[in-house]
Amino acid sequence: MEYKELAEKAVEAKKISYPPYSNFHVGAALLTEDEKLYLGGNIETPSYSLTICAERTAVFKAFSEGERKFKAIAIASDSPDFCPPCGSCRQVLLDLCGNIDVIMINHKKDLKILKLNELLPLAFGDKDLT
Ligand code: THU
Repeated sequence: MEYKELAEKAVEAKKISYPPYSNFHVGAALLTEDEKLYLGGNIETPSYSLTICAERTAVFKAFSEGERKFKAIAIASDSPDFCPPCGSCRQVLLDLCGNIDVIMINHKKDLKILKLNELLPLAFGDKDLT
């Protein structure tokens, strides 16, 4: 799948988000190595801090279906600008998906593409658990 199309899926995924408190919709579209697609939206709870981001929703959905190899994740939000993944999502994405491509899409439909390593340099990981 082209990254442009993956990014459009992230925009669509905003519809499955549930942000009644912030009213800030985020959508994520995660692509596996064999081209399967998992969508996620942010889900907020009344205890606020237990909210889960769109990116982690998508990753946990995929992992719980047995997926282990990933290619890229796209992220879209209500902000007109690019929505970068939060620090917690960067760590979880690197831990579970490896150094995948991260595609952000803004309201003009421009794409910004970075490697996860660029977003989270010098990360703690498996290799540090000695
Ligand atoms: N949010 C995400 O879903 N992903 C991000 O990368 C940044 C923030 C959500 C969490 C919360 O529901 C709302 O956006 C406002 O922070």
